[in-house]
Amino acid sequence: MKKIFGGKTGLVLLPLVVLLLAGLPMAVWFDLTNLTQTNLSRQASDLNSILSSVRSYYASNVVGRILAAPSVPTEVTHNYEAIPGAIPIPATLSLELGKVISERQHNITYRFVSDYPFANRAPHPLDEFEADALRRLRENPNQMISSDTTSLFSDQVRLVVPVVVGAPCVACHNSHPESPKNDWKVGDVRGLQEVTIAQPIGTDLFAFKYLLAYFVLVAAVGFIFIVLQRRQAALIQAMNGELETAITNPNLWRAAYATIIAAEALTALLLTIGAVALVRRLGAPAEAFNRAKGCSGRRPDGRPFFGFLVVGREYLAM
Ligand code: HEC
Repeated sequence: MKKIFGGKTGLVLLPLVVLLLAGLPMAVWFDLTNLTQTNLSRQASDLNSILSSVRSYYASNVVGRILAAPSVPTEVTHNYEAIPGAIPIPATLSLELGKVISERQHNITYRFVSDYPFANRAPHPLDEFEADALRRLRENPNQMISSDTTSLFSDQVRLVVPVVVGAPCVACHNSHPESPKNDWKVGDVRGLQEVTIAQPIGTDLFAFKYLLAYFVLVAAVGFIFIVLQRRQAALIQAMNGELETAITNPNLWRAAYATIIAAEALTALLLTIGAVALVRRLGAPAEAFNRAKGCSGRRPDGRPFFGFLVVGREYLAM
């Protein structure tokens, strides 16, 4: 029994229990830290790529165009490409940035769209979520609308905010010859701005490496525990088998002990008498000395003692 529950096992068991208890929160914490860092570095890299897109758009479609036509006054217009030295208005910039960003970024989409495109621009197809978001934003512009979708391979978040018109916007949109609608009022939702970010799940599974390691450890400990339990069960079974044949009445034990002690005392007494007889005949002739051996016991005989052992072990569980 000591092999399983003894002092040494306790020394191993206690730190193991502490390790298993503290291990789970620690593994979760390590993985969370890891996951946060992975996400942060992904965000940093996305932001870096988006800013590079904006800078290169600015370089070619604003600065490049002004420098290329130094003698012409700079015009700001939506059809800037057709006019030398002209640069895009903010709405055109936003519409075009959507394309530029999705060309460079596969996991980020930017959309600046509405259900009222200007005359020279092709209609923007709005999916169900966007059409519904626009309708809800027109009912209440003071909100953001988002949706999360999780598929087997990726997580996706879509965030939509309203593009609300102020007085200068209304003035131009209501008077512009290509404007599709001329009764805009300050505070109306002209369109929507949407950012969609997707993240592959496949790579994230490996971010849980500490948790996976913890589960492997728990499985190993569980396996060892089962093996020990089985060993212990076998031991207990053996002991039970032994106890089944043992006599459990304490009075019978005492009687058996008393008999053993009495028999041993008698043997000791007889041996002492024999020894005294021999000592007294030390100087006597050989014949008289040999005769005296009769009462001193012969060669020591182990058989009775062995008998005691068997009886004690088997019936008294000594
Ligand atoms: C000087 C005139 C002018 C002003 C001021 C102006 N816009 Fe525009 N807006 C336009 C033109 C022209 C377009 C078409 C751009 C294109 O298709 O490239 C446009 C396009 C848009 C679109 C995209 C429509 C679509 O579906 O393609 C939105 C949204 C928009 N404007 C919102 C605003 C807001 C909000 C303001 C004020 C902050 C504003 N505009 C100020 C002229 C103007």
